[in-house]
Amino acid sequence: MKKLFSEIPYIKGDRIVLRRITQDDAASLRELTESEAVYRYLPTFLFEKKYDSIEYVIDRLYDECFSESIILGVFLDEEFCGIAEMYGFRDEIHKISVGYRLLERFWGQCIASEALALMIDYLYNETDIEIITASTMIENRASARVLEKNGFDLVVHAVPENWGYDEPTTTDKWIR
Ligand SMILES: CC(C)(COP(=O)(O)OP(=O)(O)OC[C@H]1O[C@@H](n2cnc3c(N)ncnc32)[C@H](O)[C@@H]1OP(=O)(O)O)[C@@H](O)C(=O)NCCC(=O)NCCS
Repeated sequence: MKKLFSEIPYIKGDRIVLRRITQDDAASLRELTESEAVYRYLPTFLFEKKYDSIEYVIDRLYDECFSESIILGVFLDEEFCGIAEMYGFRDEIHKISVGYRLLERFWGQCIASEALALMIDYLYNETDIEIITASTMIENRASARVLEKNGFDLVVHAVPENWGYDEPTTTDKWIR
């Protein structure tokens, strides 16, 4: 069993691959971060939006960011379609949280569901992770559906949390 964070995962499925993001992906990552539709239901403090320069963000993904979060690109036929993230690591209870966000033109093709399935498979079969959690804004039905399709249970409904906005964000908590 590997320790999570002992490597930058390379996770290959039948159709998609989750792997490290490189400078070749800068234009697509910039397009993602600039999309209002994508970030409507997300916290304000995600690492890919931390710096103005997307090239600098990519430079720091596997050092500064990697101390607390694993951000991988989701690739379909070598084309960048979005991000899969593992964050909120709690080594003492073998717990991690997961997230995902895709360029709008890739929505509705089951890509997020497959990316999540690949993360779950990697975490439970290759690492010592025993608890996977996720959080969604209560309005985000598509993300809730992605979690339900992957066997997550809704454990707490409508909790106020600080997602970086002026008002607390009402979120659902999921566990698998
Ligand atoms: C949420 C997101 C990742 C889903 O990606 P996706 O690849 O389109 O998801 P999938 O195709 O795997 O599955 C989406 C499911 O939600 C359903 N769905 C989509 N929009 C919906 C809506 N408005 N209401 C209810 N269900 C919806 C789809 O029908 C599908 O379910 P089905 O397979 O039972 O038909 C994508 O929309 C996205 O990147 N959104 C912006 C970022 C974001 O919100 N990330 C999650 C934060 S918690």
